[in-house]
Amino acid sequence: MRIGTLGNGEMAEALGRHWVRAGHQVMIGGRDPGRAATVAARIGATGGSMQDASKYGKVVLLALPAEVAVGVLTGLDLAPGTTLVDCTNAFDHGDFTLAVPAMAESISQAVPHVRVVKAFNLAADTVWRDAPQLFDGAPLGVPICADDPAAADLVGRFVRDLGYLPVPAGSLARARLLEATAALAVGIWVTGGDVRALFPPRAAAFGTTPPTT
Ligand SMILES: NC(=O)c1ccc[n+]([C@@H]2O[C@H](COP(=O)([O-])OP(=O)(O)OC[C@H]3O[C@@H](n4cnc5c(N)ncnc54)[C@H](OP(=O)(O)O)[C@@H]3O)[C@@H](O)[C@H]2O)c1
Repeated sequence: MRIGTLGNGEMAEALGRHWVRAGHQVMIGGRDPGRAATVAARIGATGGSMQDASKYGKVVLLALPAEVAVGVLTGLDLAPGTTLVDCTNAFDHGDFTLAVPAMAESISQAVPHVRVVKAFNLAADTVWRDAPQLFDGAPLGVPICADDPAAADLVGRFVRDLGYLPVPAGSLARARLLEATAALAVGIWVTGGDVRALFPPRAAAFGTTPPTT
């Protein structure tokens, strides 16, 4: 598939590299097309402006600082039905509270003609760059929130391209939970804690009679 990225930073490079390896055509889009071209050359993609990348294919990765995302998106002319993969985190790096309480929903309200899918926000760029890694013998699970099932499935394929496992996590209204989880996790990691110790396995959580859904 053809995938454009908005942004030429760590996330665009880390994810874009794997998607190129998986056989996708990727255009790295930046506010400075020269910087975008440099990143693109490193990963076997092409470079361009953000407008170029927004029109390159039916999938666009949003890899910009959260505070500029809506302004940039509303200045572009994204085609109706574009799948927009939102990996942004809008937390305050001082105290790890949320600067925007529901980033993916804000984006969806700003560009309602695109299919927003929240994914890839829970782990650092190094985890994506060094994919696939096993943690305690298992591949990373990557939660995905979206209102459009086909768009969620498509992004699940992009997760598998990295050797990780897509985890359906509900509608876009639940993306705010992923955003809050990222803020909580990063806040714990930076103070020396380890979030892998926070949750028991499913069987321990529910015993022998898990709740039906
Ligand atoms: N890095 C991580 O570990 C990680 C993990 C999960 C989620 N995220 C989220 O992913 C998003 C991207 O993170 P990143 O680490 O890839 O960021 P990054 O390396 O700092 O790259 C940011 C990109 O945004 C562009 N940009 C910055 N300010 C801009 C503006 N005012 N207008 C237009 N473009 C602007 C930069 O352009 P220039 O190159 O021209 O400056 C660059 O291409 C963020 O929302 C972040 O919270 C990051």
